[in-house]
Amino acid sequence: MVFYYNSKPLFALLLGALFLVGCKNKEEVKAPKKEKVVYEIYQPSEMANFMNAMYAYNVQLKQQIIEGETPTMMPLDLMKLHSAEMSNGHERSAVWNSFVNVFIESQQSIADTLSNVDLKARYNEAINNCLACHKTECTGPIPKIKKLLIQ
Ligand code: HEC
Repeated sequence: MVFYYNSKPLFALLLGALFLVGCKNKEEVKAPKKEKVVYEIYQPSEMANFMNAMYAYNVQLKQQIIEGETPTMMPLDLMKLHSAEMSNGHERSAVWNSFVNVFIESQQSIADTLSNVDLKARYNEAINNCLACHKTECTGPIPKIKKLLIQ
């Protein structure tokens, strides 16, 4: 985890994100109280941790952009998307492969200070690319990711 953050607020968000559930919708994951112990031993995959780090980073980016700041660096190691272990049931499918590089480029373009494209448009494009992959590869977090869009 320690590699993905470079500021205290981001770290706090990241810790917060760790308590969120994975691909399934909350309703599906919720179990009767007596079975709770099953979920206390849930271990997120390396990819799930990285996804949560990306989420936390974009929460921070959204705030920055709304406040009129211009992001100048992208601290995440997006190459992790090519190497991180995924949890059972997930793999680098053809759909994954068709979306991942487009996403990486769009996430990096947000901190490209030489771009002529409007900052908010670049940011929303990256978030829409999260959503594009999630539509087939991991539907649970979609409502949460949608909230990252800047209206
Ligand atoms: C190329 C496809 C793809 C892209 C792009 C992508 N995701 Fe994911 N995401 C996945 C997959 C697959 C998983 C499940 C990983 C696992 O469980 O190992 C996942 C899991 C998640 C999770 C749940 C993690 C957990 O705790 O289980 C969140 C939150 C998430 N992604 C947010 C994002 C955000 C935010 C972005 C964009 C900044 C993004 N994703 C971009 C495919 C993608």
